[in-house]
Amino acid sequence: MRVPPAILWDSATLSLKLLDQRLLPHEQTYLDITNLQEACAAIATLAVRGAPAIGIAAAYALVVCARSLPEQTATTDLTDLASQLKAARPTAVNLAWAVDRLLKVHQAGGGLDALHREARAIHDEDRAICRAIGAAGAPLIKPGVSVLTHCNAGALAVSELGTATAPLYLSHQAGIPFRVYADETRPLLQGARLTAWELQAAGIDVTLICDNAAAALMASGEIDLVIVGTDRVTRNGDVVNKIGTLNLAVLCRHFGIPFYVACPSSTFDPHTATGADVTIEHRAAQEVLGEQAARVKAHNPAFDVTPAELVSGLITDRGLLDYSSDHPLLPLLEDQQQY
Ligand code: MRU
Repeated sequence: MRVPPAILWDSATLSLKLLDQRLLPHEQTYLDITNLQEACAAIATLAVRGAPAIGIAAAYALVVCARSLPEQTATTDLTDLASQLKAARPTAVNLAWAVDRLLKVHQAGGGLDALHREARAIHDEDRAICRAIGAAGAPLIKPGVSVLTHCNAGALAVSELGTATAPLYLSHQAGIPFRVYADETRPLLQGARLTAWELQAAGIDVTLICDNAAAALMASGEIDLVIVGTDRVTRNGDVVNKIGTLNLAVLCRHFGIPFYVACPSSTFDPHTATGADVTIEHRAAQEVLGEQAARVKAHNPAFDVTPAELVSGLITDRGLLDYSSDHPLLPLLEDQQQY
């Protein structure tokens, strides 16, 4: 069994449906996205989530909106709608990157067909990128290894193979035996609800752990490498990803465990110098407090910054970029500059 696609796009009717990931794994419901408000709400509430997926969803949402704009007001309106979409979540660079790609087409005089083609291209490229990341990372999955991952950088966050999960899917298909530990990923449990579910559905040996069990597992020699996804890699190589990623990177340095980040070229941000320059999304206290906690204040950043010095390398669609070499990010940097 494979998990259902996060994004359904109908090219004939230009209609968009998003799998409501807040309800997974127990309920599989698609939301119809018919206007900007619905698109922004789906992104902000994490009905659709994961850096590449929110970029793809926003690109299609803009096509949906463009379809119903009167021609003479389209220029200002589309620019305004694009700004609102970009503001739905601030941290993942893919959202602004995808929306800006469509805006560029629009500003060059492209009409609805051209916008549609660009959105489709972003989605198609994403599938190819995931396959390339899988091929680049598969050599890391030696027979018998134990891999720890955090949050969900899988099929539900991207398309098809995911990013951090792509080497796992390809190695599994190749018959390599290995096991995965999935951090549950407080407070919204993307690891428990999504990663564990999708890996198990693919027949991969997956074990769920509390986030705070990682150090003890590493100390007992149970973890051979960590692979996580990312929401943005800055020019100096800092990695912004789900809160708790930094904890793992620090632990890996302590225990001498390789720490890899699967990074599609769309997630590399050459315009931002360091992780300190990235806006980190802070979410509602209620997500942390839930029903059980005392009624106190809560601190709930959704992401953290792992400094480049703690990263072993990036698994990218251009190959494995080793952070110990001099200019590991240049190949990505050159391509991304064009957007
Ligand atoms: O808040 P989320 O669920 O959108 O956070 C997702 C992550 O942190 C992922 O690791 C990241 O977006 C990469 S997805 C390929």
